[in-house]
Amino acid sequence: MIEAKVDIVEAKEKKAKPDPENLSFGKIFTDHMFTMEYTREKGWFNPKIEPYAPIELDPAAMIFHYSQSVFEGLKAYLDPEGHIQLFRPQENFKRMNRSNQRLSIPLINEELVLDYLKQLLTLEKDWIPSADGTSLYIRPFIFATESSLSVAPAHSYKFIIILSPVGSYYPEGIHPVSIQIEHDYTRAVRGGTGTAKTGGNYSAGYIAQAKAAEQGHAQVMWLDGVEKEYIEEVGSMNVFFKINGQVVTPELNDSILAGVTRKSIIELLHDWNIDVVERKISVSEIHEAYKEGTLEEAFGAGTAAVISPIGELSWGEEVMIINGRQTGDLTKSLYTTLTGVQTGKLPDPYGWTVKIKV
Ligand code: COI
Repeated sequence: MIEAKVDIVEAKEKKAKPDPENLSFGKIFTDHMFTMEYTREKGWFNPKIEPYAPIELDPAAMIFHYSQSVFEGLKAYLDPEGHIQLFRPQENFKRMNRSNQRLSIPLINEELVLDYLKQLLTLEKDWIPSADGTSLYIRPFIFATESSLSVAPAHSYKFIIILSPVGSYYPEGIHPVSIQIEHDYTRAVRGGTGTAKTGGNYSAGYIAQAKAAEQGHAQVMWLDGVEKEYIEEVGSMNVFFKINGQVVTPELNDSILAGVTRKSIIELLHDWNIDVVERKISVSEIHEAYKEGTLEEAFGAGTAAVISPIGELSWGEEVMIINGRQTGDLTKSLYTTLTGVQTGKLPDPYGWTVKIKV
């Protein structure tokens, strides 16, 4: 039941829909966006669905100076009956509030915001692509709007949700990629913002990503910022290894993002009675497993790519080829099941999906 009251201003002119066979990631946006404001006096107010358009900000808006902002990423699909389907959206808004808390941004009402999103999606239903591997990517974000150079939390904010029809995150689809283990740069440190979904965590990684790309790798693997020994994430994803039949993923700490895909994979593996553990994993342990022949599979997991198999891991001079650079069977099963449940092509015994009946 949709209850939250939102003013809707419909776009006079609608854009042409893109070719569903040729969608890239996050380049095209739909006709409308959701916006809401915050001031200390009023709290969150003025929820609106309005035509997608540039926004005007004062050059002194605090977002430009001290990066006080958070974002989320989730996807909407059309199920085989043509209903809009979301995957665990409550988890994203819960995490957004954890990020808000870390960045000293006022909390949102998670239920209300989900309701606003449902109304936006209802209006933009025709933008949800249904070809294999496509979806409507949802990007909610909040940023500081107050005009001030004070180094302190802003007194005013804006919350926006934009929507983008997307194809596969990797244009080549799911295929094993080559990863460089990064020694010098660190994505996040203990006590920092690594566990929050905030832009700075991502832009801080570009320089290492460029270095890896120069050497022919698709992404970097991040190590902890203190010992430079324990594996944290891969690119902008969580990471999993299958070693001697057991699935291992780095245990959460305050420098690792608590991924919704990560959580779902762990729950699926428990359900499938496959041994899965969350613990610290050192790069030396991975290297040992590789030398012993027990490093069976490795993959990244995140909303955008869902699952991204790792075919090769470079660590200094050492190159570890995983599963002959082929996607492993477990990696494949996880991808098929997750995307099947997300798109409504497979049943959802876990209660993860949320349908919007239009
Ligand atoms: C995700 O896959 O969930 C991400 O965070 C990637 C996104 C920043 C594009």
